[in-house]
Amino acid sequence: MLRSHSVKELISVPIGTSVTLAGWVHRRRDHGPLIFIDLRNRRDLMQVVIREKDFSASEQLQLREAIRPETVVQIQGVVQARKPGNENPDIATGKIEVIAEKVIIINSAETPPFVLDDPSVVVGEDVRMKYRYLDLRRERLQKNILLRHEVIRAMREYLIARDFIEIETPYLGKSTPEGARDYLVPSRLHAGKFYALPQSPQQYKQLLMVAGFEKYFQIVRCFRDEDTRGDRQPEFTQLDIEMSFVEQDDILRLIEEMYIHLVKLVTPEKHITSIPFPRLSYAEVMAKYGTDKPDLRKNPDDPNELAFAFILDFPMFEKKEDGSLGAVHHPFTRPRIANMAELKSADPLTILADQYDFVLNGYEIGGGSIRTHDPKMLQAVFEILGHSPEDVRAQFGHLLEAFRYGVPPHGGIAPGVDRFIMILAHEPNIREVMAFPKTGDGRDLMMNAPSTVSEQQLKELHLKIVP
Ligand code: AMO
Repeated sequence: MLRSHSVKELISVPIGTSVTLAGWVHRRRDHGPLIFIDLRNRRDLMQVVIREKDFSASEQLQLREAIRPETVVQIQGVVQARKPGNENPDIATGKIEVIAEKVIIINSAETPPFVLDDPSVVVGEDVRMKYRYLDLRRERLQKNILLRHEVIRAMREYLIARDFIEIETPYLGKSTPEGARDYLVPSRLHAGKFYALPQSPQQYKQLLMVAGFEKYFQIVRCFRDEDTRGDRQPEFTQLDIEMSFVEQDDILRLIEEMYIHLVKLVTPEKHITSIPFPRLSYAEVMAKYGTDKPDLRKNPDDPNELAFAFILDFPMFEKKEDGSLGAVHHPFTRPRIANMAELKSADPLTILADQYDFVLNGYEIGGGSIRTHDPKMLQAVFEILGHSPEDVRAQFGHLLEAFRYGVPPHGGIAPGVDRFIMILAHEPNIREVMAFPKTGDGRDLMMNAPSTVSEQQLKELHLKIVP
């Protein structure tokens, strides 16, 4: 190890301990014969004092030259109590400092393209995205990424303690309709064929229910080629859940209890507007608020208020722009009908579905449904959606076939992780809670993606670019 303690670990070290630290120079202040450095590890700062009398004239010259913000240094020294009056109550290590005995400059740093230690400075989006690794050093993103870590860890622990198992599903798969465009990956071995990156693991998780796992979850990346907005990224993370032998109420209760727990554990300063979470019908909220994701906060100026709600009783089908019928959630959702005859005779637009949305402060932070587990009913839904029997066989044949071998009644939900953390962090954009997000037009300015590829790569993939 290049250090004996991180800054955070110093808090519990007795006065007089010899330590070796390593980190970044956050700030430097010169006071005549003393140089003060705020040494940084993550968000934690430690004051290091370099006394003129402890270093030779040439060493001093070298240090004064080399120690600049963001320089990486290693420091050997002794922990001592700060003199009364010099304590800093704003930082956890504010009662102590380290008197340097030896300073090694590990790596120098050029002046960063923007100020890292002053959150009040507004930095242009493009510069932030191009130098994301520097933006991530700033307190705002350090805090958000840490919060993200805490939320995801608490989700995992909560579900594992309730007998859920985490199972990974493929990223190279087959297109599943979730209403967006697919990202396609050309196959080298199968000319002219493509994988689709999952818009969600919807079919895989249902097949895991057929496989008998009963309680599944996955913190999973999903990919949707749609226009980016403040609460939308082309790749984002879901807490994907599926359960067997459940009804709607079981899933809503699980989610409600988990989110109350998450808020208490991770952001105890927040308060939840209504417990139990209100359950409102789609028709009711559309009539009352004109949206299916109403903001139910009592005081929208309060950054610590969280108004969760479930929206229920969605229509199963909707008319798309081209006049054809689409599924409001997805075709695997169970229509709320008594029997097949009713499904076939009723006006599809009047049929409701066992679908639920989870909303928070005016955002949709999750969606799910009880699924159709009767293969005949599923086939009928596909037909109402305008799929020919051949098309159904080609696109969904695997699922219909799987359902012939004993499928348990099942249902699930997928809360969006990024949106929830964005709201907890009181940020205006999900970019602020992702380590490496895309710009509004889907680019990664740091790595410069998307980018062109070589002729050779195109040839291997049997692709030609048409200008
Ligand atoms: P749905 O499509 O409603 O359901 O997605 C679930 C939740 O994922 C989040 N979300 C997004 N977050 C950021 N950027 C995006 N582009 C984006 N798209 C969606 C939202 C949304 O509520 N397979 C079903 C779930 C199920 O039926 O179990 C599904 O994906 O918070």
